Amino acid sequence: MSLNPHLLRVVVVVGNPARPSRTKVLAETALNAVARRRAVHSQVIELVDIGPQIGAVLSRKDLSDAVEARLQAIESADLLIVASPVYKGSYTGLFKHLFDFVGYEALVGKPVLLLATGGSDRHALVVEHQLRPLFGFFRAASLPTAVFASEADFDGYQLKSEAVIQRLEAAADEAATQLDVARLQAMRAEPALAAA
Ligand SMILES: Cc1cc2nc3c(=O)[nH]c(=O)nc-3n(C[C@H](O)[C@H](O)[C@H](O)COP(=O)(O)O)c2cc1C
Repeated sequence: MSLNPHLLRVVVVVGNPARPSRTKVLAETALNAVARRRAVHSQVIELVDIGPQIGAVLSRKDLSDAVEARLQAIESADLLIVASPVYKGSYTGLFKHLFDFVGYEALVGKPVLLLATGGSDRHALVVEHQLRPLFGFFRAASLPTAVFASEADFDGYQLKSEAVIQRLEAAADEAATQLDVARLQAMRAEPALAAA
Protein backbone atom coordinates (compact mmCIF):
# COMPACT_ATOMS: atom_id res chain seq x y z
CA MET A 1 0.00 0.00 0.00
CA SER A 2 1.47 3.38 -0.96
CA LEU A 3 0.88 6.14 1.55
CA ASN A 4 0.68 9.85 0.84
CA PRO A 5 3.72 11.03 2.81
CA HIS A 6 2.03 14.37 3.48
CA LEU A 7 -0.87 12.82 5.39
CA LEU A 8 -0.68 12.03 9.07
CA ARG A 9 -1.39 8.42 9.94
CA VAL A 10 -4.16 7.39 12.30
CA VAL A 11 -4.27 3.73 13.30
CA VAL A 12 -7.38 2.36 15.00
CA VAL A 13 -7.07 -0.83 17.05
CA VAL A 14 -10.39 -2.47 17.91
CA GLY A 15 -10.27 -5.29 20.45
CA ASN A 16 -13.45 -6.90 19.14
CA PRO A 17 -13.36 -10.70 19.18
CA ALA A 18 -16.53 -10.84 17.03
CA ARG A 19 -18.63 -9.00 14.41
CA PRO A 20 -20.82 -7.01 14.40
CA SER A 21 -19.24 -4.87 17.10
CA ARG A 22 -20.43 -1.83 19.03
CA THR A 23 -16.80 -1.19 19.92
CA LYS A 24 -15.95 -0.89 16.25
CA VAL A 25 -18.85 1.53 15.73
CA LEU A 26 -17.56 3.68 18.60
CA ALA A 27 -14.00 3.61 17.21
CA GLU A 28 -15.14 4.49 13.68
CA THR A 29 -17.26 7.36 14.98
CA ALA A 30 -14.16 8.68 16.74
CA LEU A 31 -12.07 8.25 13.59
CA ASN A 32 -14.66 10.10 11.50
CA ALA A 33 -14.68 12.95 14.02
CA VAL A 34 -10.88 13.22 13.74
CA ALA A 35 -10.99 12.97 9.93
CA ARG A 36 -13.51 15.85 9.79
CA ARG A 37 -10.92 18.02 11.51
CA ARG A 38 -7.68 17.01 9.76
CA ALA A 39 -6.75 15.19 6.54
CA VAL A 40 -5.39 11.82 7.61
CA HIS A 41 -4.54 8.39 6.27
CA SER A 42 -6.31 5.81 8.40
CA GLN A 43 -6.03 2.09 9.01
CA VAL A 44 -8.38 -0.01 11.14
CA ILE A 45 -7.01 -3.15 12.80
CA GLU A 46 -9.64 -5.51 14.20
CA LEU A 47 -8.82 -8.29 16.64
CA VAL A 48 -11.48 -10.44 15.01
CA ASP A 49 -9.22 -10.63 11.93
CA ILE A 50 -5.91 -11.42 13.65
CA GLY A 51 -6.95 -12.95 16.99
CA PRO A 52 -6.69 -16.56 15.82
CA GLN A 53 -3.20 -15.87 14.40
CA ILE A 54 -1.76 -14.08 17.42
CA GLY A 55 -3.45 -16.24 20.05
CA ALA A 56 -1.11 -19.16 19.49
CA VAL A 57 2.09 -17.06 19.24
CA LEU A 58 4.22 -15.95 22.19
CA SER A 59 7.14 -14.28 20.42
CA ARG A 60 6.99 -11.44 17.85
CA LYS A 61 9.45 -13.18 15.55
CA ASP A 62 6.95 -16.01 15.07
CA LEU A 63 4.14 -13.71 13.87
CA SER A 64 3.06 -13.71 10.21
CA ASP A 65 4.28 -10.88 7.96
CA ALA A 66 0.72 -9.54 7.84
CA VAL A 67 0.52 -9.19 11.62
CA GLU A 68 4.07 -7.78 11.80
CA ALA A 69 3.01 -5.11 9.28
CA ARG A 70 0.08 -4.19 11.53
CA LEU A 71 2.40 -3.91 14.54
CA GLN A 72 4.68 -1.61 12.57
CA ALA A 73 1.66 0.52 11.62
CA ILE A 74 0.74 0.81 15.30
CA GLU A 75 4.29 1.76 16.23
CA SER A 76 4.66 4.38 13.48
CA ALA A 77 1.20 5.98 13.76
CA ASP A 78 0.88 9.71 14.44
CA LEU A 79 -2.28 8.99 16.44
CA LEU A 80 -3.63 5.76 17.88
CA ILE A 81 -7.31 5.21 18.57
CA VAL A 82 -7.70 2.13 20.76
CA ALA A 83 -11.03 0.58 21.66
CA SER A 84 -11.97 -2.55 23.56
CA PRO A 85 -15.15 -4.12 24.84
CA VAL A 86 -15.06 -4.63 28.60
CA TYR A 87 -14.56 -8.29 29.45
CA LYS A 88 -14.57 -9.17 33.14
CA GLY A 89 -13.86 -5.59 34.15
CA SER A 90 -10.97 -4.94 31.74
CA TYR A 91 -9.95 -4.86 28.05
CA THR A 92 -10.08 -8.22 26.33
CA GLY A 93 -7.19 -10.64 26.74
CA LEU A 94 -6.48 -10.61 23.00
CA PHE A 95 -6.24 -6.79 23.03
CA LYS A 96 -3.55 -7.03 25.72
CA HIS A 97 -1.85 -9.90 23.88
CA LEU A 98 -1.54 -7.71 20.76
CA PHE A 99 0.01 -4.86 22.75
CA ASP A 100 2.36 -7.33 24.46
CA PHE A 101 4.09 -7.59 21.05
CA VAL A 102 4.53 -3.80 20.72
CA GLY A 103 8.02 -2.51 21.49
CA TYR A 104 8.12 -1.04 24.99
CA GLU A 105 9.61 2.24 23.71
CA ALA A 106 7.64 2.36 20.45
CA LEU A 107 4.73 4.44 21.78
CA VAL A 108 6.64 7.01 23.85
CA GLY A 109 4.92 10.39 23.46
CA LYS A 110 2.37 9.04 20.97
CA PRO A 111 -1.15 10.48 21.32
CA VAL A 112 -3.68 7.77 22.11
CA LEU A 113 -7.46 8.13 22.25
CA LEU A 114 -8.85 5.60 24.74
CA LEU A 115 -12.29 4.06 24.09
CA ALA A 116 -14.30 1.21 25.56
CA THR A 117 -17.80 -0.26 25.48
CA GLY A 118 -19.54 -2.31 28.15
CA GLY A 119 -22.85 -3.93 28.96
CA SER A 120 -23.80 -1.20 31.44
CA ASP A 121 -22.34 1.95 33.00
CA ARG A 122 -21.04 -0.09 35.95
CA HIS A 123 -17.61 -0.35 34.33
CA ALA A 124 -17.51 3.10 32.73
CA LEU A 125 -14.21 3.94 34.42
CA VAL A 126 -12.47 1.02 32.71
CA VAL A 127 -10.94 3.61 30.37
CA GLU A 128 -9.28 5.26 33.39
CA HIS A 129 -8.48 2.22 35.54
CA GLN A 130 -7.42 -0.26 32.86
CA LEU A 131 -6.65 1.37 29.50
CA ARG A 132 -4.91 4.51 30.80
CA PRO A 133 -2.40 2.59 32.98
CA LEU A 134 -1.57 0.24 30.07
CA PHE A 135 -0.66 3.17 27.85
CA GLY A 136 1.02 4.84 30.81
CA PHE A 137 3.37 1.86 30.87
CA PHE A 138 4.26 2.69 27.25
CA ARG A 139 4.74 6.38 28.22
CA ALA A 140 2.23 7.23 25.50
CA ALA A 141 0.46 10.60 25.55
CA SER A 142 -3.09 9.40 26.21
CA LEU A 143 -5.57 12.18 25.50
CA PRO A 144 -7.28 13.72 28.55
CA THR A 145 -10.73 12.78 27.26
CA ALA A 146 -11.41 9.04 27.14
CA VAL A 147 -14.83 7.74 26.06
CA PHE A 148 -16.96 4.85 27.32
CA ALA A 149 -20.29 3.77 25.85
CA SER A 150 -22.69 1.18 27.23
CA GLU A 151 -25.17 -0.95 25.29
CA ALA A 152 -27.91 1.55 26.20
CA ASP A 153 -26.04 4.22 24.23
CA PHE A 154 -26.67 2.24 21.04
CA ASP A 155 -29.78 1.37 19.08
CA GLY A 156 -28.63 -2.02 17.87
CA TYR A 157 -25.28 -1.17 16.32
CA GLN A 158 -25.95 2.53 15.82
CA LEU A 159 -24.50 4.99 18.31
CA LYS A 160 -27.43 7.09 19.54
CA SER A 161 -26.29 8.83 22.73
CA GLU A 162 -25.79 12.57 22.19
CA ALA A 163 -23.68 12.69 25.36
CA VAL A 164 -21.28 10.05 24.03
CA ILE A 165 -21.14 11.73 20.61
CA GLN A 166 -20.35 15.09 22.25
CA ARG A 167 -17.59 13.47 24.29
CA LEU A 168 -16.13 11.94 21.12
CA GLU A 169 -16.16 15.40 19.53
CA ALA A 170 -14.24 16.81 22.51
CA ALA A 171 -11.71 13.98 22.25
CA ALA A 172 -11.38 14.61 18.50
CA ASP A 173 -10.53 18.28 19.22
CA GLU A 174 -7.73 17.10 21.51
CA ALA A 175 -6.57 14.60 18.87
CA ALA A 176 -6.47 17.30 16.18
CA THR A 177 -4.25 19.47 18.37
CA GLN A 178 -1.86 16.56 18.84
CA LEU A 179 -1.84 15.88 15.09
CA ASP A 180 -0.82 19.51 14.54
CA VAL A 181 2.10 18.97 16.91
CA ALA A 182 3.07 15.80 15.02
CA ARG A 183 2.94 17.71 11.73
CA LEU A 184 5.13 20.49 13.08
CA GLN A 185 7.65 17.92 14.27
CA ALA A 186 7.60 16.22 10.84
CA MET A 187 8.11 19.59 9.11
CA ARG A 188 11.09 20.34 11.32
CA ALA A 189 12.59 16.97 10.43
CA GLU A 190 11.74 17.33 6.70
CA PRO A 191 11.14 20.99 5.66
CA ALA A 192 9.77 19.92 2.22
CA LEU A 193 6.58 18.84 4.00
CA ALA A 194 5.87 22.47 4.89
CA ALA A 195 4.99 23.18 1.26
CA ALA A 196 2.47 20.32 1.11
C1 LIG B 1 -16.99 -12.64 28.04
C2 LIG B 1 -17.67 -11.31 28.25
C3 LIG B 1 -17.41 -10.59 29.40
C4 LIG B 1 -18.01 -9.34 29.61
N1 LIG B 1 -17.73 -8.64 30.75
C5 LIG B 1 -18.28 -7.42 30.94
C6 LIG B 1 -17.97 -6.65 32.10
O1 LIG B 1 -17.21 -7.06 32.98
N2 LIG B 1 -18.55 -5.41 32.23
C7 LIG B 1 -19.42 -4.91 31.30
O2 LIG B 1 -19.89 -3.78 31.45
N3 LIG B 1 -19.74 -5.61 30.17
C8 LIG B 1 -19.19 -6.85 29.98
N4 LIG B 1 -19.48 -7.56 28.84
C9 LIG B 1 -20.38 -6.95 27.82
C10 LIG B 1 -19.59 -6.31 26.69
O3 LIG B 1 -18.51 -5.51 27.14
C11 LIG B 1 -20.48 -5.40 25.85
O4 LIG B 1 -21.60 -6.10 25.37
C12 LIG B 1 -19.71 -4.77 24.69
O5 LIG B 1 -20.37 -3.62 24.23
C13 LIG B 1 -19.52 -5.74 23.53
O6 LIG B 1 -18.78 -5.09 22.53
P1 LIG B 1 -18.84 -5.56 20.99
O7 LIG B 1 -20.23 -5.27 20.47
O8 LIG B 1 -17.80 -4.76 20.32
O9 LIG B 1 -18.53 -7.05 20.98
C14 LIG B 1 -18.90 -8.81 28.62
C15 LIG B 1 -19.19 -9.57 27.48
C16 LIG B 1 -18.58 -10.80 27.27
C17 LIG B 1 -18.87 -11.58 26.02
